[in-house]
Amino acid sequence: MPITILQHSLSSHILSLLRDKTTPPERFRALTSAVTRLLIAEATRKLPSRIVTISTPLEETPGQQISVQIVAVPILRAGLGMLDAALEMLPDATVGYVGMERDEATAIASAYYCKLPPLENAHVLMLDPMLATGGSAGAAASELERTGAQQISLLCIVAAPEGVARLAESYPKLQIYTAALDRELNASSYILPGLGDFGDRLYGTL
Ligand code: PRP
Ligand code: URA
Repeated sequence: MPITILQHSLSSHILSLLRDKTTPPERFRALTSAVTRLLIAEATRKLPSRIVTISTPLEETPGQQISVQIVAVPILRAGLGMLDAALEMLPDATVGYVGMERDEATAIASAYYCKLPPLENAHVLMLDPMLATGGSAGAAASELERTGAQQISLLCIVAAPEGVARLAESYPKLQIYTAALDRELNASSYILPGLGDFGDRLYGTL
């Protein structure tokens, strides 16, 4: 399964601010949007496009238009922090939602909500900032495939090797885009060095 790790001074700078435990929620939300824009740019780099004719104020010229329907699917709750930036970059995208929650004791993820538009022939951008054990992303990818998705990219901000390996085994076609591949999970399945609980830091529910 291909994984792309952003190689960009700006994403490294933003990530360092996100990791900093003194960054307050308002700033954390703005930084999440900023790094999401960079992830969207990378994940859409090779999307199919068609040639169209554009009239500039001076003459006609060939231009390009992305030719595949994009569906953004934030994984609730933390993935919502990436949605506004995704829609700013891709205003024609449609949106689906999957709600996943990890049990705090076992780290096992379960789904509590799912509302998806048609996914056949679409390119699905799954938005979830943390890929830890891979349980949430894996269960969400199953839902997407059941609904007809054939091309799925996962955009995350921090990934752990354990989650990447699990997805590579279960969903070898899934493309992962991340701002960082961290060292490991701790005994509670939190990412190290990581940035803590993303949803709590995003919404001030620590
Ligand atoms: C977090 C995060 C991912 C999941 C990653 O969600 O947003 O969805 O953990 O962990 P995993 O790879 O081990 O499944 P959480 O369950 O904390 O819910 P929240 O987004 O509502 O805070
Ligand atoms: N979910 C988070 O929000 N943070 C982690 O480190 C792991 C899962």
